[in-house]
Amino acid sequence: MEVQEVVNVMPRIGDQAPDFEAVTTKGKIKFSDYAKDKWVVLFSHPADFTPVCTTEMSGFAERKAEFDALNTELMGLSIDSIHAHLAWVNNVRKNTGVYFDFPIIADIDMKVSKLYGMLQPNESETAAVRAVFFIDPSKKIRLIMYYPLNVGRNMDEILRALKALQVSDENGVAMPLNWTPGAKVIVPPPKTLDEMQDRLEDTTCERVDFYLCKREL
Ligand code: BEZ
Repeated sequence: MEVQEVVNVMPRIGDQAPDFEAVTTKGKIKFSDYAKDKWVVLFSHPADFTPVCTTEMSGFAERKAEFDALNTELMGLSIDSIHAHLAWVNNVRKNTGVYFDFPIIADIDMKVSKLYGMLQPNESETAAVRAVFFIDPSKKIRLIMYYPLNVGRNMDEILRALKALQVSDENGVAMPLNWTPGAKVIVPPPKTLDEMQDRLEDTTCERVDFYLCKREL
């Protein structure tokens, strides 16, 4: 039988987040024991002491209170040593006053990067791309973003997407284009002819047709 090449499996939306143990700036962490009953935003950056990464990490740090308010823990990662992480955290604090007060994984053996598809060799064979995994309290992956090395992420969008996931779960609704907190949400479309007729007679929602109705929360 022909030997099959091992394919690097990318985690997908709906998968259980792969478990791992890692050395971080807050000590050793076993992911399955971490942040029980909380959401986790797990994100990678290509390298410590680089400009775009410094703006992004500072962005996460400066808005940490907003993640806290959404019952969400932050966890960073790069393929750097713990010594590099500590020096970078200290350097940014000294230069700007911003403190990266969340664990940053020192993924020097690339174990976690490979588990999460953060190492994308045609972009870089040695640095993780800019990934963001939104992981719910049952440790299921709910949303994934991947950005290349040369484009920083958008913190407003990361927070908006997190809030959208949570509001969707809490209310059994979906979020339309450009939804922001306070805007109307989408009522799930009917699944039977009777439900369709009910929806066509529904006066409580803003209806384009039976399949597209919005309402206030
Ligand atoms: C940066 O963060 O500026 C960066 C890191 C790796 C490659 C390119 C840019």
